Amino acid sequence: MSEYTLKSARYIARELMEKMLREGSVAVDATMGNGHDTETMARLVGASGHVYAFDVQAEAVEATRARLAQSGLTDRVTLLCRSHAEMSEHVKAVPDLIVFNLGWLPGGDKTVTTLLSSTAAAVRQALAMIRPDGMVVVCCYPGHEEGQRELAFLEELFASLPPQQFNCLAHVFLNAGAGAPRCYAVQKQETYRV
Ligand SMILES: C[S@@+](CC[C@H](N)C(=O)[O-])C[C@H]1O[C@@H](n2cnc3c(N)ncnc32)[C@H](O)[C@@H]1O
Repeated sequence: MSEYTLKSARYIARELMEKMLREGSVAVDATMGNGHDTETMARLVGASGHVYAFDVQAEAVEATRARLAQSGLTDRVTLLCRSHAEMSEHVKAVPDLIVFNLGWLPGGDKTVTTLLSSTAAAVRQALAMIRPDGMVVVCCYPGHEEGQRELAFLEELFASLPPQQFNCLAHVFLNAGAGAPRCYAVQKQETYRV
């Protein structure tokens, strides 16, 4: 992680996990990949909490399974080899935090990346599913075409959310070029009403 005072998108996402999760919390990793975020969240929710983790690639699920077994955290995580677009069908508890780290599996096949259609469906579900005061965190990488499409969708969606229902924050280094990673944090207002 960066030693600079101004932190990267990924660093901010990690900080938000630490702020939002405590013993007994429920979290969703919408893009488990190699399981780094899943493991971090599994530690934070403690033995009485739970993490649901999604990925469409069996390779990612197996890498995460091995990581959790090595850390002794297997029991507090449900691993799902399913699209995050099916999140609302599989997550039965009300999440405190739902995290997306879009793009492709690090070290894996770059052609298997998150896609606008499923990202859009999943982010909409996530906003509906989180508890009042809960948060959705999305790291987005517009350095490739699908990432640009995801970014355009996310910016439009988050900018359109009523401030009485959600607070929407974007973190980006403005002088790092159009492909600079972004971290969005969307918190549901405590007084949220549908
Ligand atoms: C950038 S990686 C995530 C890295 C992960 N957060 C970590 O800590 O290692 C993005 C992951 O999203 C997965 N993915 C792509 N489409 C998906 C979908 N529809 N549902 C769930 N995961 C998906 C990819 O297979 C890839 O593993």
